[in-house]
Amino acid sequence: MAYSFEKLPDPFDRSAAPASTPKSTLRTRLLFAALLCPLLLLSSIPLHSIWSLWPGSSSRGVGSTWRTAENPYLQKQWKESLGRCSQLHVLPGVPADFHKRKESDRFVPSTPPTLIRNATIWTGEDTGNELLLGHDILLDRGLIISLGKNLSAPKGADVVQAHGAWLTPGIFDMHSHIGVDSLPELSGANDVNSVANPILPHLRSLDGINTHDLAFKRTVSGGVTTSLVLPGSANNIGGQAFAIKLRPTKEKTPESLVLEMPYNVPTPGIERKEGDPPRWRHMKMACGENIRRVYKQTRLDLAYNFRSGFTSAAALRDSQDAFCAQAELAQKKGEILEERFPDDLQWEALVDVLRGKVKVNTHCYEATDLAAFVRYTNEFKFPVAAFHHAHEAYLVPDLLKQAWNSTPAVALFATQARYKRESWRGSDYAPQKLAEQNITVIMKSDHPVLDSRFLLFEAQQAHHFGLSTNLALRSIITSSASVAGFSHRLGYLRPNYDADVVLWDSHPLKLGATPRQVYIDGIKQIENPFEAKPLETGVEAPEVASKPEFPICEEELDDGSEEREREVIDSVLFTGVREVLLEGEWEARGEMEGEFEVLVQEGRIECVGECAALVGEETRKVELKGGSLLPPLTAYGPALGLTEMISEKSTTDNPVYDPLYSGELSTTQQLWGQVVAVKAIDGLEFGGKHLRISHDQGFLKAVVAPMGNGFFRGVSVAFRTGAKHVLQPDALVKEAVALHVTIGHYKGTQTPSISTEIAELRRLLLGGLEKDTSTMVKADYFALAAHGTIPLVINAWKADVIGTLIRLKGEIEREPNSTAPLRWVIHGGQEAHLLAHELAAADISVVLSPPRAFPESWDERRAVAGPPLSPRNAPNILHNAGVRFGLGVPEEWQARTLLWEAAWAWRDSNGEVDRKSAVAWVSTNLDDMLELPKNGAAEFVAYERDPFEFGSRAVAVSTTDGKQVELIA
Ligand SMILES: *[C@@H]1O[C@H](CO)[C@@H](O)[C@H](O)[C@H]1NC(C)=O
Ligand SMILES: *[C@@H]1O[C@H](CO)[C@@H](O)[C@H](O)[C@H]1NC(C)=O
Ligand SMILES: *[C@@H]1O[C@H](CO)[C@@H](O)[C@H](O)[C@H]1NC(C)=O
Repeated sequence: MAYSFEKLPDPFDRSAAPASTPKSTLRTRLLFAALLCPLLLLSSIPLHSIWSLWPGSSSRGVGSTWRTAENPYLQKQWKESLGRCSQLHVLPGVPADFHKRKESDRFVPSTPPTLIRNATIWTGEDTGNELLLGHDILLDRGLIISLGKNLSAPKGADVVQAHGAWLTPGIFDMHSHIGVDSLPELSGANDVNSVANPILPHLRSLDGINTHDLAFKRTVSGGVTTSLVLPGSANNIGGQAFAIKLRPTKEKTPESLVLEMPYNVPTPGIERKEGDPPRWRHMKMACGENIRRVYKQTRLDLAYNFRSGFTSAAALRDSQDAFCAQAELAQKKGEILEERFPDDLQWEALVDVLRGKVKVNTHCYEATDLAAFVRYTNEFKFPVAAFHHAHEAYLVPDLLKQAWNSTPAVALFATQARYKRESWRGSDYAPQKLAEQNITVIMKSDHPVLDSRFLLFEAQQAHHFGLSTNLALRSIITSSASVAGFSHRLGYLRPNYDADVVLWDSHPLKLGATPRQVYIDGIKQIENPFEAKPLETGVEAPEVASKPEFPICEEELDDGSEEREREVIDSVLFTGVREVLLEGEWEARGEMEGEFEVLVQEGRIECVGECAALVGEETRKVELKGGSLLPPLTAYGPALGLTEMISEKSTTDNPVYDPLYSGELSTTQQLWGQVVAVKAIDGLEFGGKHLRISHDQGFLKAVVAPMGNGFFRGVSVAFRTGAKHVLQPDALVKEAVALHVTIGHYKGTQTPSISTEIAELRRLLLGGLEKDTSTMVKADYFALAAHGTIPLVINAWKADVIGTLIRLKGEIEREPNSTAPLRWVIHGGQEAHLLAHELAAADISVVLSPPRAFPESWDERRAVAGPPLSPRNAPNILHNAGVRFGLGVPEEWQARTLLWEAAWAWRDSNGEVDRKSAVAWVSTNLDDMLELPKNGAAEFVAYERDPFEFGSRAVAVSTTDGKQVELIA
């Protein structure tokens, strides 16, 4: 049925329509003309061409249309429908006059122009054109106005002398949950996922962005200026994503952060000008394990979820196309249609995916899932912007190239892998291998999985493992901005681009590179930046590390076959050595000038200096290229040796039972006897990938407590990461190292009260003091800890908890039976810096974990940010206060990055810390506080090149008995 325009008093009463067709008036015709012309002009594809594509179009009549009418309701609906039709096939793009803009749409009027003089400018352009040395850059009205030499400063400009400092465009994080996955984590602010059902294209991250989140300021201080805020990966289609700039706005609204609001989200002040193409929309999809787990489904179900979703969207798309074809015919006849443009809130965004108007970002790890997703793209014909995580992408580059329309980019972590089965085959060399295949590589944070503040660190590591300098920088700046659809304004330093720039204190790929200032929309972001170290203006990137012959990655160890045996020798002459930082008689050699030689024979250092005369026939020469001999490093980590894939229970020792947490308090007392004897040694698993990678980076020892989230953690073990099994001589360094407990909120889980935990600890220690440990038949570890026979390690983060523990230690030590002083260690300690002097006075050690402050939970929210937001970072505050401390391994895959963490904090100390102390943070300090026995042999790790910079790696290590040398060729 259709209606006459002329008389229809009640537009909603459709039965009231007259059956005849009155003649149209001139007024109606003019109205039509006025309405349609601009709309038709807007359309890039003539409507008749759509019509001709419609199957059976010729037989489908439009005779149900009545000419002439003046029903305002229908006019409005018809106008809207025609508007929608005219836009059906218009792809997102850039307005024709975009680069003629005189000021940014994000310009804040009071912002002064900024002229940065004499910078080393990395522009984001292709290799060969990317560097402008000694150039100036002028920012004004939210835009980059010009780049050149000797630019003149406009009136009122803020003139900054860069003195040759590096300057890059702002970092674009293409995978972030900033603002929706809160920092610190709070139950009232976790809006990253819905679990309503696996297909949710109608949800929007925008609706949950909390502009007060603690992460914004910290993330900007790492040079990140824009983030694509994706919904989480609990769903096959998790919803729509939004790209936001990270600077605070006076409006304090999510809208005011959005870079280019898609017109689908009506926003006051943001109107689409006639003729402008639509803006990109973004969507998050996900394959694999997460959805399986959340919905208790299998991959077969997941495929059906996707395909039924796409089928629904395709049906809606087809009905829209059919409607618009009909509408075109009606228009030609001067008629209108009664029906509305077919739409559906649930499917409209997915229809836009099928129309190529959405940048699809798909979390998809392994070959099986990548193949399934490529299959969907070809079945439903839509492009994918990027596969995220994609730990197996490097194994199937040709598969990626089969995706519909274009090859997706791959967005990766650098070294985070093996945390679940999907990531088991992750390779450090994946970025380089994908780049070799001409696949666009992006590094991403997945904030707060990684702290997006340090996204740069991902690019640095990718470079260390072989990605070229320009591609490494592009992976977080240019490629990410381009793949997200913003290469017209972000990712490059070009005139008329957004004035988002970062001034660095060194080459951005150097270890510890830190922003000196960050500008977003031309606005200075760090009020009083602290510069931790002197400016470095060198143009050269750090070296790429040499690649061992058998890197641990890919399918190695998958098939149960024997590991490759490494070459073991008795005698090595290290040449090109710059530093020996070992204990004892070789201690002083760190200060020797220039390069020298070191001869090692049968576990003894026989010579340092010029050793060629002492070399025998059997001696192997290893050139260290200015490298170092360091003591074996110690990895203090939560589950190293207790898990292979932490989310696979059968590959993991799993958390210990905790009576205080898991049981009723009334039954707790009886249960202590059973659990107090839990020892990590009994759950150890040797030979896995995490251990081998840790070992190959110089972490020859590991200390691990039983896993758990509760108060009671059991007794830790110290062992050698290179051992094959627990019975091998020298596999163990110490069987029972320390007793471990946790006081805190266990990072968000429900726990007994803090005061209950403290009361329980007090009760157990006082109870222990009543016992005579010399006559004890069975080890009672609380009694041993109470008497100071073994150290007590307490997981605690919050300053208030640490303060209470300092008081408790004094209380126990004042007891008449106490054999003070007790040996206590705080593990975690994010807020320990607030009580650094008190900790030093109480002789309590600290294992700082994670080493770089990250206020993930409320207990950690006062974690000190460090430069450029505060003068010092936590390691330097603890060091200066004289606290004995080390750096801990937050997750198993991170042991190998720990030496970089130490070197980073050392750099930030600006000379207050010497290199030997920094190495001690990941070696001897941990050994001392945990009272590990010293080995008689001169155990060491030999690093090629400077281990305090990228490009270095361990090339030789002592064998587990300390008597020979294993080459990591
Ligand atoms: C630019 O900075 C470099 C490095 O600090 C310096 O050597 C050079 O003299 C500076 N050039 C000008 C024109 O100031
Ligand atoms: C990558 O691109 C380069 C330059 O276009 C080309 O020479 C090379 O063959 C490509 N490599 C692959 C694996 O496609
Ligand atoms: C001190 O220890 C002895 C056993 O060595 C025990 O009998 C006594 O009760 C303890 N006193 C206190 C106050 O704990």
